Amino acid sequence: MAALFDLSGKAAFVSGASSGIGLHTAQRLAEAGAAVTLAARRVDRLHSEVGRLRKAGYTANAVALDVTRPETIAEAMDWAESQLGQPIDILFNNAGILYAERFVAQKAAEVARIIDTNLTGAFLVAQEGAKRMAARRSGSIINVASTSGLRAGGQLSSYGASKAGLIHLTRIMALELAHRGVRVNALCPGNIRTEMHQTFEEKGFEESLLKRIPMRAIGEVEQLDGATLLLASDASSYMTGAVIPVDGGQLLSWM
Ligand code: NAI
Repeated sequence: MAALFDLSGKAAFVSGASSGIGLHTAQRLAEAGAAVTLAARRVDRLHSEVGRLRKAGYTANAVALDVTRPETIAEAMDWAESQLGQPIDILFNNAGILYAERFVAQKAAEVARIIDTNLTGAFLVAQEGAKRMAARRSGSIINVASTSGLRAGGQLSSYGASKAGLIHLTRIMALELAHRGVRVNALCPGNIRTEMHQTFEEKGFEESLLKRIPMRAIGEVEQLDGATLLLASDASSYMTGAVIPVDGGQLLSWM
């Protein structure tokens, strides 16, 4: 059964790989056998992580990518494919930012930054990956959305709207790309302890959040591994357009 999740011989591209879920997932994909490219704005931070992965015997590379600068997206994927000497099979479309503020106080510039990064940026990264995969009639794209795109969360109007957009985009991409051999699914983390999540901790939200999570715990990045490996591997060969929450049951608590 382990062979079902084996990624040997595959190449993975992870955006937003300098911290949190992206960094952790890059390592997990490498452990599962994939050659990985870590892509993020903070490329200096990536070099030390890549060094660590290579030392452990994995194939890893780092490339600069700013998803709000479209010209860097194709460049980064070209570079990844030339360094690894093979096309990208798995795209973990993960780069994202958070903005938590009451709706009436959200600032236009910040709203634009959220949409540019979480929706337009994710769209363009997915589009570039999809073009390459469709040409080969093979590939898996994992869009990292959020349960905030599935339920209404206070202070998360622009963020939640960006993630709801990404979920809808996932379904349309899946519909258009299924017959071209490309699978597209959305991973929807709930509350996962990362740098991004610190915003909630700093605002003193953690206690009230815990009350709304049936499992009464903030998730750890490792707890996304099962869903990620499922979507990345041939174990999900008949899955496309799926939207998978990993949230300790939080989506249930408002029903
Ligand atoms: P994080 O802040 O540790 O990681 C976000 C990554 O995206 C960083 O590496 C950052 O440099 C990168 N990034 C931001 N803007 C970028 C840009 N313009 N171009 C390229 N890279 C950029 O946060 P975390 O928690 O690891 O978030 C990863 C993804 O998971 C995000 O899309 C986030 O919305 C999503 N998510 C996180 C949840 C959580 O509770 N931590 C819950 C639901 C979704």
